[in-house]
Amino acid sequence: MNDEYDGKNAVITGGSSGIGLATAKLLVDAGARVVITGRSRATLDAAAKELGDNATAVMSDVSSLSDLDGLAARVRDELGTLDALFVNAGVTTAAPLESTTEEMFDTSFAVNVKGAFFTVQKLAPLLRTGAGVVLTTSAANVMGLAGTSVYAAGKAALRSMARTLSGELLPRGIRVNAISPGPVDTGTLERTMTEEAAERFKAERVADNPMHRFGTPEEIAGAMAFLAFDATYTTGSEFVVDGGSTQL
Ligand SMILES: NC(=O)c1ccc[n+]([C@@H]2O[C@H](COP(=O)([O-])OP(=O)(O)OC[C@H]3O[C@@H](n4cnc5c(N)ncnc54)[C@H](OP(=O)(O)O)[C@@H]3O)[C@@H](O)[C@H]2O)c1
Repeated sequence: MNDEYDGKNAVITGGSSGIGLATAKLLVDAGARVVITGRSRATLDAAAKELGDNATAVMSDVSSLSDLDGLAARVRDELGTLDALFVNAGVTTAAPLESTTEEMFDTSFAVNVKGAFFTVQKLAPLLRTGAGVVLTTSAANVMGLAGTSVYAAGKAALRSMARTLSGELLPRGIRVNAISPGPVDTGTLERTMTEEAAERFKAERVADNPMHRFGTPEEIAGAMAFLAFDATYTTGSEFVVDGGSTQL
């Protein structure tokens, strides 16, 4: 416990597991109040129990504009204004060109692109001067990893949005940056593909990675908090946290 973020208010979409939950823990442990979101009530309840009284868990699907309106109203009631917005909710789609369906394409873009854009639109009115917005992209957006074309394209769109939205929000003194994680073992791959395919994909990522390991959710969370609160001369950028996989 420390008081680094005492008095700070944050929203983390997709804050009920993985990278989002690790970020929520870091902020709450340092004195912040957070609202986390997700679609599964059970997962949200478990996360809320783990986080304690300074966290509120709101069931809200980022691909639904009415859910986002509801979220904005709830955040206004619970927190008033925001110092940080983590646009983190995302789904992984992994399939080769020939077996990617229209439904997979639409779901991926509805959550990872449309959901992210409208999360910023709906919550922007609550952001204070000096606030930071962090969009979670992916190292996949600059790589040519087979089987990730839909996911990677959506994350590339999000990287582009970090630039344009930063220009739009700068007059209000709000910074917008992207965080680009490399492989992080959060269980998301197992939820996306067969166990065997996930194990193969993970073994390939470890072999390819200059550090020969996955990152931890806590390593990404630390970088996200830095971008949101401490990177006061940085906007429109993408901060890469990938063990060097897209750099070396
Ligand atoms: N893990 C990696 O290797 C990696 C690498 C690069 C980038 N990323 C990105 O990092 C972010 C977090 O990933 P993670 O690995 O931590 O995944 P995760 O453990 O699966 O967590 C995803 C979170 O997003 C929520 N979510 C999913 N769809 C949602 C929707 N439509 N509306 C609201 N919440 C939704 C999930 O809750 P519900 O399922 O209950 O809705 C969960 O809280 C994602 O944007 C992902 O693309 C991950």
